[in-house]
Amino acid sequence: MLLEVDDLAVAFRTADGTVNAVNGLSLRLEAGGTLAIVGESGSGKSQTAFAIMGLLARNGEATGSVRLDGKELLGLSPRELNKVRAAQAAMIFQDPMTSLNPYLRVGDQMAEVLTLHKGMSRREAMTESAAMLDAVRIPDAASRLRMYPHEFSGGMRQRIMIAMALLCRPRLLIADEPTTALDVTVQAQIMELLSEIRAEFGTAIVLITHDLGIVADTCERTVVMYGGRVMEQGATETLFERPSHPYTLGLLKAVPRLDIDQDELETIPGDPPDMSRLPKGCPFTPRCGFAMERCGRIQPPLTEWSGRLRACHADPEVVR
Ligand SMILES: Nc1ncnc2c1ncn2[C@@H]1O[C@H](COP(=O)(O)OP(=O)(O)O)[C@@H](O)[C@H]1O
Ligand SMILES: [Mg+2]
Repeated sequence: MLLEVDDLAVAFRTADGTVNAVNGLSLRLEAGGTLAIVGESGSGKSQTAFAIMGLLARNGEATGSVRLDGKELLGLSPRELNKVRAAQAAMIFQDPMTSLNPYLRVGDQMAEVLTLHKGMSRREAMTESAAMLDAVRIPDAASRLRMYPHEFSGGMRQRIMIAMALLCRPRLLIADEPTTALDVTVQAQIMELLSEIRAEFGTAIVLITHDLGIVADTCERTVVMYGGRVMEQGATETLFERPSHPYTLGLLKAVPRLDIDQDELETIPGDPPDMSRLPKGCPFTPRCGFAMERCGRIQPPLTEWSGRLRACHADPEVVR
């Protein structure tokens, strides 16, 4: 197993007390596999990724276990973590400029990664960088290396960031809302590129998104998060065909679909959770159409039902 996360929790110390951003999350991802983490804004998706990568903000702490290729990552020194990040795991973000330096030519920043982490000569590094731009379908790679990030379109910048992330051939790529800022056509091209990369390099991909529409075709497995907790997780097909958690059901009803007749899209009433004032029980209770008295009091455990895990007190047969 490439990635094994067990009982992961992320807590932030703030002036107003502790914010429990992630609670009891466990997941598995095999080499070359694909996994989606979905949920509305504020669900704890990014903090889950940051915890896996050892990139939490200073006031945050992760507990539980994160193993990459069998090696425990939680508790590693910054130096050891840097090594893992360079060689085995990479992350890309919604805004490519968080990873790209605006003042450096693209080729210089790519080459620097390779001279630093792979000990390549500058010439080798430039050749390899051009090859990687080629791999992310940026035409005329050699001349593009001399350009600055702002000279590229948003979609092209996203491709460059993906190329940067892949330079050291990581076995794991975490993509945090990689297409959210892009228009629909470019979005589809980037998703297509990610699947090509997976096929070409065997990179396992964790895709973080609030958009369930792009998950169906891309990811084998899905984790649905809300209020820092897993609501439901399992094979994407299973969850899409028969969602058993009111939150998954709500998210799915909000996705435009071509294959069925939809009168109109239903959005989930209410707002995403305020993490500093969650109910004691299931965080979704205030917005849930199936909520019962105990839901606000007792956190439902994740239990197996019909080939997936769900955390819900309601009888799955009535959640439709
Ligand atoms: N440095 C921090 N200090 C306190 N709370 C934080 C910090 N970073 C993130 N959070 C909180 O963690 C929760 C989950 O955030 P995040 O994982 O970024 O959500 P998303 O699912 O949108 O990616 C949010 O309520 C956010 O306010
Ligand atoms: Mg996020």
